[in-house]
Amino acid sequence: MEVVIADDQTLAMLAADAIERLLRTEAAPVLGLATGSSPLRIYDELTRRHEQDGLSFSHAQAFMLDEYVGLAADHPERYRNVIETEIGSRVDFGPGAVHGPDGLAEDLDAASADYERAIAEAGGIDLQILGIGTDGHVAFNEPGSSLSSRTRVKTLTEQTRVDNARFFDGDLEQVPTLCLTQGMGTIMEAGHLMLVATGANKAEAVHQMVEGPISAMWPATVLQMHRHVTILVDDAAASRLQLGDYYRHAYANKPEWQNL
Ligand code: GLP
Repeated sequence: MEVVIADDQTLAMLAADAIERLLRTEAAPVLGLATGSSPLRIYDELTRRHEQDGLSFSHAQAFMLDEYVGLAADHPERYRNVIETEIGSRVDFGPGAVHGPDGLAEDLDAASADYERAIAEAGGIDLQILGIGTDGHVAFNEPGSSLSSRTRVKTLTEQTRVDNARFFDGDLEQVPTLCLTQGMGTIMEAGHLMLVATGANKAEAVHQMVEGPISAMWPATVLQMHRHVTILVDDAAASRLQLGDYYRHAYANKPEWQNL
């Protein structure tokens, strides 16, 4: 794991640099997109590079992490629509290039299997952007999730629904209880995992993820088993890290040739 501690704009620039490298060097890059507020600065920066530097997504495919079950097709908080608003419609993805699990499918198990197949047919995800929930969930893999799980239906915890109620006029009743989510096993197959977390409310989850024992109680801890993980955190989210000084020192002394 590489832990980079910097201000949130610097973190967004670093993530955008890695994505830009992938887009400019691969013939058929596959990006993993996350919802939530954490990646928004990255999406803004990618949009800026698309508009000002000609960065193109036309040869890329993208896969979303998760989706609420049952939100109407035109609901603004349906993750499919959120991703379209935040990045899909702002850059030049080709038609049908952005994929998401179908939270409106009649057969949710079949939709989950279809989604796994689509990722495999695209050749797997090269770079996956991730956020983390305050309870250590990744995508919607809540505490207790199998660390080798695949895309499937999950029940959201009360904590996650409370956290996400801000997107539903603060009304908990409007927050769905079920979701479809890539599993931890699915996520672990991406080539490069890039997780961004900011703010003091993420500090305990970040500490557990990086320094805690691997446990389904904090699903993000399985990232410790991945060969290529970048953890991008601001000072507040890094505030409970025991080895914070070491991570800062290592990054400050990183060889220039070494990318994220
Ligand atoms: C949501 C999403 C996750 C996201 C997390 C944190 O529930 N399903 O993919 O990482 O919660 O969200 P935020 O970045 O808004 O804090």
